Amino acid sequence: MPPAGAAFFYEQGEKRMTIKRPTEHLPFGEKRDPRFFGADILSVSQFERPDLEKIFEVAHEMSEMVRRVGTFDLLKGKVLTNLFYEPSTRTSSSFVAAIERLGGSVIQINNVTFSSVSKGESLPDTVRTLEQYSDAIVLRHPEQGSAAEAAYAATKPIINAGDGPGEHPTQALLDTYTIREEMSTIDGLTVTMLGDLKYGRTVHSLAKLLTLFDVHINYVSPPALRMPEVLVKEIDEAGIAQDETTDLESVLAGTDVLYVTRIQKERFENPADYEAVKDSYVITPETMMLAKDKMALMHPLPRVGEIDPEVDDDPRAAYFRQMEYGMYVRMALLALVLGKA
Ligand code: NCD
Repeated sequence: MPPAGAAFFYEQGEKRMTIKRPTEHLPFGEKRDPRFFGADILSVSQFERPDLEKIFEVAHEMSEMVRRVGTFDLLKGKVLTNLFYEPSTRTSSSFVAAIERLGGSVIQINNVTFSSVSKGESLPDTVRTLEQYSDAIVLRHPEQGSAAEAAYAATKPIINAGDGPGEHPTQALLDTYTIREEMSTIDGLTVTMLGDLKYGRTVHSLAKLLTLFDVHINYVSPPALRMPEVLVKEIDEAGIAQDETTDLESVLAGTDVLYVTRIQKERFENPADYEAVKDSYVITPETMMLAKDKMALMHPLPRVGEIDPEVDDDPRAAYFRQMEYGMYVRMALLALVLGKA
C-alpha cells in the first residue's frame, strides 16, 4: 500500500515507478518560488495579492518558529550584505536579526566613510564588488532610483531598503502585515496617513501596496507636504477612494489605522521650510480619546515628537509590535528570495 496521501506516477520507457510524496506539510525546503527566488525587491508595484498572502504565511511561520525555538538554520551559510548610505536603526538591525535567526551572516556596511565609497567608487562598482561575497544585498541610498540602478548592475538580488524619497517596499510589507495582525483584516478599513506625505517613502510604498485591498485612504498633511500628485493619480486609477485634508480631527473618528510619519528634515532644501511645518501634528492621549476603540496607531519610527510617549501604553499603540512583525516579514522575504520558502 502506498503511504497515505502519496501520489504515484509512472515514467514510461524507464519502467520505473516513483513515489512522489507530498511535501506541503514541511514548512520549508528547496522551494524556489519563481515569483521570489533570485528576485530583486525594488518596488511594491511588483507584488500581487497572492504574493502578499505567501509572504504573510511564511512570516507567520517565522514568528511561530522564533517563539518556539528562536533560531533555525534555514539559511545556514548564506551571506547578506547590508549596504547603508543613509542612517538606519530598525531596517538595518532587523535584517541582521532576520538572517542571523535563520543561521546566515551579514557583511554590514553602514558607515561608508570607511569603505571605498569615500574614495569615489560608483554605486554599480560597489554593488558588483559586494555581490562577489554575498548572496543578496540590502541597499539604502539617498537617491530615488538607486536601487533599480544597483539591480541593473548586479546579478544577485537587491532589496531596496529605501531609495531617498522614493520607496521602502519591505517597510510597506511589514506595515500591511501589521495591519492584518492588529485588525484581523485589511479589506474594508479606512487608513489615515499623517505627516510628511511628500518626502515620506514609507507612505508612498504603503499607499501603493494598499491598492491590492479594498480600503479607503485619508491623507492628512500640511499643504506643503501633500502626497505627490502622481501617486494620488496612480492610486485613483486602481479604484481606491482617497481624501485629503489638513485637519486630523475631521477624519479621526472614522479611522481604523492611523499611520503617523516623521517630517523628513533631511529632504528639505531650506531649513526654514522645515521649521515652519515641523510640529504640525502631535498625537497625545487627548487625540486618542477621539479615536475608535479598535484602531491601530502605527509609525515606521523614528519619531521626533509626532507621538507623545504618554500614548505608548495605549493598547492601540502598535508601533513597537510593528517592529517585531518587521523582523518576521524580513525573515520571510530572505527565505523566499534565497529559495528556501
Ligand atoms: C523610515 C525610513 O527610513 O524611511 N524608517 C524606517 O525605515 N523604519 C521612516 C523615517 O525615517 O522617518
